[in-house]
Amino acid sequence: MPLAQPVRVLELFCGIGGCAAALPARSEVVSAVDIHRRALEVYRLNFPHPTAVRTIESLRDEDFRRWRADFWWLSPPCQPYTRRGRQRDLEDPRAASLRMLIGQIQRQRPRHLALENVPEFRSSQAHRELRQGLQQCGYRVLETQLCATQFGLPARRRRFYLVASLDGMLELRAPACTRLPLSDCLDAEPSPELAVPDELWDKYQAALDVVDSRDATACCACFTSAYGRSPVRSGSYLRTNEGLRRFSPREILRMLGFPAGYRLPEAIATQQAWPLVGNSLCVPAVRHVLGAIPELAETEAPKLPPCSSRQ
Ligand SMILES: C[S@@+](CC[C@H](N)C(=O)[O-])C[C@H]1O[C@@H](n2cnc3c(N)ncnc32)[C@H](O)[C@@H]1O
Repeated sequence: MPLAQPVRVLELFCGIGGCAAALPARSEVVSAVDIHRRALEVYRLNFPHPTAVRTIESLRDEDFRRWRADFWWLSPPCQPYTRRGRQRDLEDPRAASLRMLIGQIQRQRPRHLALENVPEFRSSQAHRELRQGLQQCGYRVLETQLCATQFGLPARRRRFYLVASLDGMLELRAPACTRLPLSDCLDAEPSPELAVPDELWDKYQAALDVVDSRDATACCACFTSAYGRSPVRSGSYLRTNEGLRRFSPREILRMLGFPAGYRLPEAIATQQAWPLVGNSLCVPAVRHVLGAIPELAETEAPKLPPCSSRQ
């Protein structure tokens, strides 16, 4: 029997590669595009795929024709749809890239595509335009909302997912998993720089979300790109025998279900890594959503996230 061709994947807004980490080995990423140089440095450390430091708006029809991708992954900026980002929707300049891609989808008609965003995206004008474009081209569409906790991970991350295909799609079953205790996600030797100064505690203690390292059922708040910069509503703090501290970027990656072998550059500062990991994806949730596309569905039982805390 002839071997099936690998599915050609175009990873748009690829960041540090949350989608690449979820793809099955039989796929081939033809390009991973992002404007953020440091995010792409992290991406290249982990994946051998071709990358492009480009704005999505600068991509031309010929780029898409050259890539001939079967599947497009899109994780566009979420600020246009969040309350913190003032919910300006398509009026927000950060939504221009998605609008441009809606036009490209209609021209290029990839066989399959998927998009991830915040739950508020579901009621946006951008969502309406995307759905209209997909309908005009005859795509079947499946939408769902998933939280990282449904995959046993000890941090909330509720996100909206849309999958569209010109072919048949598989039904998405409820995720099944075992719970990963918070203690399994912690660094063996946490850096002293994670310690929270007393002044921060004194000023914000009523508003801080604190979890205990000995609590086997502890679940952190969603970590955002503002973690480490904005003291409140950007993620949880950890109470240990040594005092209160922040979570390290590696710990957050484990709570997002990144595989054990995933690396951050030795030289990257914690303050630089926090926004990158806070912007990224819940890997098992992406893997679950890819399961709607027969060529990208896991053939074996999904591997669970258990990232080692000893690396
Ligand atoms: C929500 S994050 C997605 C992160 C990614 N999925 C990951 O796993 O790390 C959005 C990403 O889009 C990139 N971005 C935002 N606007 C862009 C644009 N106009 N062109 C290219 N990349 C853009 C940001 O640098 C960021 O990495």
